[in-house]
Amino acid sequence: IPMPMGDSDNQTWIVTHMEDVKKVLKDQTNFCVDPTTINKNSDTKQFLTNSSEEDSSNLFLASSLNALDEPDHRRLRRLVSKAFTPRYMESLRPRVQEIADDLLDQVQDKGEMDIVLDYAYKLPINVISDMIGVPKSDREQIYEWSEAIANGLGVGRIDNEVSESLEAFSNYFTQLIEKKRQQPSDDLISELITIEEEGDKLTEKELLSMVQLLIFAGHETTSNLISTGTLILLDHPDQLEILKNDQSIIPSAVEELLRFHGPSTTAGPRYAKEDLELGGQQINKGDVLFPLLKSANRDENVFINSEDVDVTRDIKRHVAFGQGIHMCLGAPLARIEGDIAFTTLLKRMPNLKLNIPRKEVKWQFKLAAQGLSSLP
Ligand code: HEM
Repeated sequence: IPMPMGDSDNQTWIVTHMEDVKKVLKDQTNFCVDPTTINKNSDTKQFLTNSSEEDSSNLFLASSLNALDEPDHRRLRRLVSKAFTPRYMESLRPRVQEIADDLLDQVQDKGEMDIVLDYAYKLPINVISDMIGVPKSDREQIYEWSEAIANGLGVGRIDNEVSESLEAFSNYFTQLIEKKRQQPSDDLISELITIEEEGDKLTEKELLSMVQLLIFAGHETTSNLISTGTLILLDHPDQLEILKNDQSIIPSAVEELLRFHGPSTTAGPRYAKEDLELGGQQINKGDVLFPLLKSANRDENVFINSEDVDVTRDIKRHVAFGQGIHMCLGAPLARIEGDIAFTTLLKRMPNLKLNIPRKEVKWQFKLAAQGLSSLP
């Protein structure tokens, strides 16, 4: 599906079929994430953030993994992966369980809770903050800044509040990194500071971008998985019943919830490096493509009865975590969080019911993510 792109001669494409989405995400020869390498004067970055080069929004996450092509991406991902091993993430399981239990302890006797505000939102931000080494006393402030940034950048609005939050957010993490340099502890920042491969290390700027990316990438998405996942289960009582009777299938149910309503509507924009054909359409060099993960995950050519929720479905072919070199670094952690969040919720609150009429459930849109603002 083509769309006009401002005054530029280039077009924006919404890529909807699984086959094409995978092609765009995996083919590094024809597609890239950094448009400045194609057209030096391209206004594509401006199109995305509606901001000028000098803005802090453009510098925000500028040298982070998701914004780099090969070979820079390979170098950075290899360094970071040394700290981000599946075994390390698996070791976080007891702590994730503790956080989930603590959150439910606080509402257990009230008889009512808001799944978004009391649970889904707080679980991932506490996990990622623990992991990174953000002190508990600073977390409220971090949520506020990241909310303001995500709300602003999500709609391309860089007002004073967003600019101030971007600056405060960067200053905070610059100081935290400095503190960890002086006094290393058992957390990911300290680990990232020390990792080294063949004499190569993360630069100061890369370290800051990485930590900021982890907060953004690891928080909103997982929160949406838990809250929209709960709503989907409430919408499909037969599926909820299956899970209550057999909690061993919750990990595969998490995959189905990711497929059916994954938190990332689209992968980040990709840019065509050459003129080419995709899905029978002519794409020109410099065109922007949005690989629509949510659409690919409902592709009937891949998933039979794709519009149905089936927690017993045998799948892992969905693209909710992306595909190719930028595939989600935190997927193993997100899966652990999803597994524990749903298992704990269903075990401790088996009589979960929606407390407002279904049509009053409100959705919100931020940075390519779609989630609920509240779920009483
Ligand atoms: C990349 C989804 C949780 C860290 C991605 C991408 C997707 C995604 C679709 C690829 C984007 C693209 O190709 O443009 C999700 C979903 C999550 C989740 C649906 C939860 C359900 C997490 C968590 C972390 C994380 C918990 C960290 C703790 C990252 C990072 C990247 C990434 C660092 C960039 C990887 C790269 O460019 O090499 N994620 N994510 N994500 N994600 Fe996640």
